[in-house]
Amino acid sequence: MIQALQAVRGMNDILPDEAEAWEHFEDIVRDWLRSYGYRPIRMPIVEPTPLFKRAIGEVTDIVEKEMYSFEDALNGEQLTLRPEGTASCVRAAIQHKMLSAGAQRLYYHGPMFRHERPQKGRYRQFHQIGVEALGFDGPDIDAEHILMCARLWDDLGLEDVKLELNSLGSPDERARHRAELVAYLEGHRERLDDDGKRRLHTNPLRILDTKNPELQDLVDNAPRLLDFLGEDSLKHFNGVQVLLKDAGVSYRINHRLVRGLDYYNRTVFEWVTTRLGAQGTVCAGGRYDSLVEQLGGRPAPAAGFAMGIERLLALWREGGGEAEPAQPDVYVVNLGEQAQRLAFRAAEALRGHGFAVLTHCGGGSFKSQMKKADASGAPIAVVIGDDEAATGEVGLKPLRGPGGQQRVALDGLANAVAECLFTENEEEDGSL
Ligand code: HAM
Repeated sequence: MIQALQAVRGMNDILPDEAEAWEHFEDIVRDWLRSYGYRPIRMPIVEPTPLFKRAIGEVTDIVEKEMYSFEDALNGEQLTLRPEGTASCVRAAIQHKMLSAGAQRLYYHGPMFRHERPQKGRYRQFHQIGVEALGFDGPDIDAEHILMCARLWDDLGLEDVKLELNSLGSPDERARHRAELVAYLEGHRERLDDDGKRRLHTNPLRILDTKNPELQDLVDNAPRLLDFLGEDSLKHFNGVQVLLKDAGVSYRINHRLVRGLDYYNRTVFEWVTTRLGAQGTVCAGGRYDSLVEQLGGRPAPAAGFAMGIERLLALWREGGGEAEPAQPDVYVVNLGEQAQRLAFRAAEALRGHGFAVLTHCGGGSFKSQMKKADASGAPIAVVIGDDEAATGEVGLKPLRGPGGQQRVALDGLANAVAECLFTENEEEDGSL
């Protein structure tokens, strides 16, 4: 036997039971995004490699070791499977001069790719819903993003998702903090692990993010960025917090929250849960005021966030969330050549009236077809044999409620199905 091939490690198939939950979730998310006035944008999955190097930063885990990059064999161009959506979204906005029409509220969703070590909640192909607001400079949009998230957790019935907040200030403020931080860490150089020593002069801020338990007191006592913020940055940060307090959204200021992508400034935030094990960040984002200019556009402030769909769905399930399995309204059983032709006409006629119809394909006895009708979850079977085909009528059989099979003419079928469904629903609701 030929050996079957497997999916790439860390890249998962989403099978129908699960994919239905995804669609349910995506429906909720789409309504939620519209209710805040965000509009969809779709970008390519492959982008020129320099886009991510410039946007995310050369000295970041993503760019240093996690990107799926390759050379286009036909023209030698360096390409990368997108590891995130912000860079692509900003690239698209610049390329299509979207900001000349004014500020933009945008969202996207789809697969992202990072060559990380796969584990529960961490995959090499994962999916994000990303939200970007381009051309807004006030703390109001930062607060809007955070309030949006809080509302979505509510809509989804998610509990135990906590907000962590920080401000990274401006590049100047960060530079001053960096100098003090490096001096402090230099003073404790012998305690740093290999990663810390490596980052000391390339990306010292990231050392604050270390998970190494032996370094926790060292980083806890390190100089805090917040103490280096100037008046404008503090005012901005306070502005965000006032709006969060007004809305009753609680948060913790986490001085060590620095984010793993270089484009951020001022407000950064993460929504974290302890319910998912090590990969507990379900959503993260912040302000990135220099990125548009850095990617070749006219300077424009911006802010956004992205959430991991796999992690959110895992949390939703953990709290008992379940999507109703998709069921047809009608299963069409048919036996014989003429019956099959009538079955196709009947099914199309019903679909034309908006019903979901599963037509039995592949033959088999009436008995085996009726079993399949039952297993499909459809409340009604339309049954067509040679007798029915000869008269142009079909049999209508309720599968859940009482009542026997009745004969119905094709042109009265949609009404009869509607009536039958109505009766069954009333019974289920207990109103009959
Ligand atoms: P990020 O923190 O790299 O930010 O990713 C955002 C979210 O994507 C994470 O909080 C997590 O839920 C999910 N995620 C990331 N990596 C993985 C993975 N390997 N497996 C499963 N889920 C994952 C960004 O990507 C920024 N572009 C967010 C942003 C948008 N900032 C401003 N606008």
